[in-house]
Amino acid sequence: MNEKIDKLLDTRKKIELGGGEKRIEKQHSQGKLTARERINLLLDEGSFVEIDAFVKHRSTNFGMDKVEANADGVVTGYGTIDGRLVFVFAQDFTVLGGSLGEMHANKIVKVQQMALKMGAPLIGINDSGGARIQEGVDALSGYGKIFYNNTIASGVIPQISVILGPCAGGAVYSPALTDFIFMVDGISRMFITGPQVIKAVTGEDVTQEELGGANTHNRVSGVAHFMDSSEEECMARIRRLLSFLPSNNLESPPEYNSTDDINRIEEKLNEIVPDNPNKPYDMKEIIGLLADNGDFLEVQENYAENIITGFIRLNGKSIGVIANQPRILAGCLDINASDKAARFIRTCDAFNIPLLNLVDVPGFLPGTDQEYGGIIRHGAKMLYAYSEATVPKITLIIRKAYGGAYLAMCSKDLGADQVFAWPSAEIAVMGPEGAANIIFKDEIKESSNPTETRDEKIKEYRDLVANPYIAASRGFIDDVIVPSTTRPRLISAFDMLESKRESNPRKKHGNMPV
Ligand code: HXC
Repeated sequence: MNEKIDKLLDTRKKIELGGGEKRIEKQHSQGKLTARERINLLLDEGSFVEIDAFVKHRSTNFGMDKVEANADGVVTGYGTIDGRLVFVFAQDFTVLGGSLGEMHANKIVKVQQMALKMGAPLIGINDSGGARIQEGVDALSGYGKIFYNNTIASGVIPQISVILGPCAGGAVYSPALTDFIFMVDGISRMFITGPQVIKAVTGEDVTQEELGGANTHNRVSGVAHFMDSSEEECMARIRRLLSFLPSNNLESPPEYNSTDDINRIEEKLNEIVPDNPNKPYDMKEIIGLLADNGDFLEVQENYAENIITGFIRLNGKSIGVIANQPRILAGCLDINASDKAARFIRTCDAFNIPLLNLVDVPGFLPGTDQEYGGIIRHGAKMLYAYSEATVPKITLIIRKAYGGAYLAMCSKDLGADQVFAWPSAEIAVMGPEGAANIIFKDEIKESSNPTETRDEKIKEYRDLVANPYIAASRGFIDDVIVPSTTRPRLISAFDMLESKRESNPRKKHGNMPV
């Protein structure tokens, strides 16, 4: 027996060496950790339990019958993060470039299905040359199975993708089907087709980094949600993100004891909004002042910065924040902002995270670029996402709430459970300048001093219409509050809404404009 046990231990040791010392050195020399090092960094110390370590490929073509690929190039199993169960897979680039063949895929599918059955998050670490070329259609089928399981698990368990190496071809679509994508600057690459093919087909010269690096996907394409400067930082941020999420759609997010005063009055909030309605301020400062201990985990921080999305805690409970940013494009909604916000709203709704909407929006961004790009379709996603969301929804109108954008930021009519306004709020069909130009067009034209008349009319319109009291008198706003009291008011309102039960009519699924 002892001999057999020794053999088992030797075999396991060999498997754990992946592609061997030389390839591990190469991986390290590129500033990358190995699959097992990554898993150990991510999970609670000593909690990882590997499964399927003995799996082997069945491929015989192209001399593959002589190729031993330890663990078939992917390490799979489970462990804990902050004591909570998670499932994990990490592709091992030192073994056949982490390429995905039939058995490699089967291992990933097994942890996907286990995560779904157990109702626990799945974190996939991608570092792979894509479909294993020698395995042909078996490799493609493997990806197909993974996509299918990603889709079935969507909205049931949180799925997180970490890109820590190349991620090429169809391989990018599994991450794209998951809830959050993490990238590390200088290490991560995602593209459908690499630079060589692009050069051959279109003649365009582009580097791998420009085409699909962390900056590209965090700032330009909006494919990724987080960018870090090292694998260590990235793993720490994944752990932090999970602290805001429940393990599955039937649970509530974890609650923490708040060390911040729930009755904190924040005098600074009375000063933040400038008297001049055209002057910007930093919405993130407001978010920081409202949140428990100023703690804010921003999602897609570098993309469509005219809208802010992310997680805070109020009295220890997870809250998803969607806020206009007056510093960028005056806080207008555009195509990218609509996509970003709609996706975030749906992520929160799927995982029982209440929504806080902070509004200072002058409208949808005008222009042919936006119209030709389909702002009607994209903007509609926000209307759709807010309307179908059944989690508690609280809207706070800070300053401008004009036109369709007033509705699109979750007005009462889109199902906001509570709408508060600061006295600085202006709710109108459009801004006072635009409105005066249209409804007092003749008076302004015929006036001996058109500029003065125009200014007077703008003031008249603002005094009459652009304030919170008309909306409050109709019940569209539940209360006008002193800014400094916002935190206690929000905490009290979210507490009141905690037992909210609402469901939409039964249907197969809706038909969200995409
Ligand atoms: C088999 C692969 C492989 C693959 C890499 N390797 N990719 N083996 N299938 N797809 C092997 C290499 O042969 C090499 O083996 C080892 O992994 C390391 O690769 P290197 O090329 O030496 O590493 P590096 O120079 O860092 O380059 C990494 C790379 C490059 C950029 C990823 O390997 C590459 O371009 N690979 C092909 C990428 C690709 O086109 N994949 C198919 C995408 S299409 P040795 O033994 O020499 O160490 C696809 C379709 C999916 O994925 C569709 C789903 C719907």
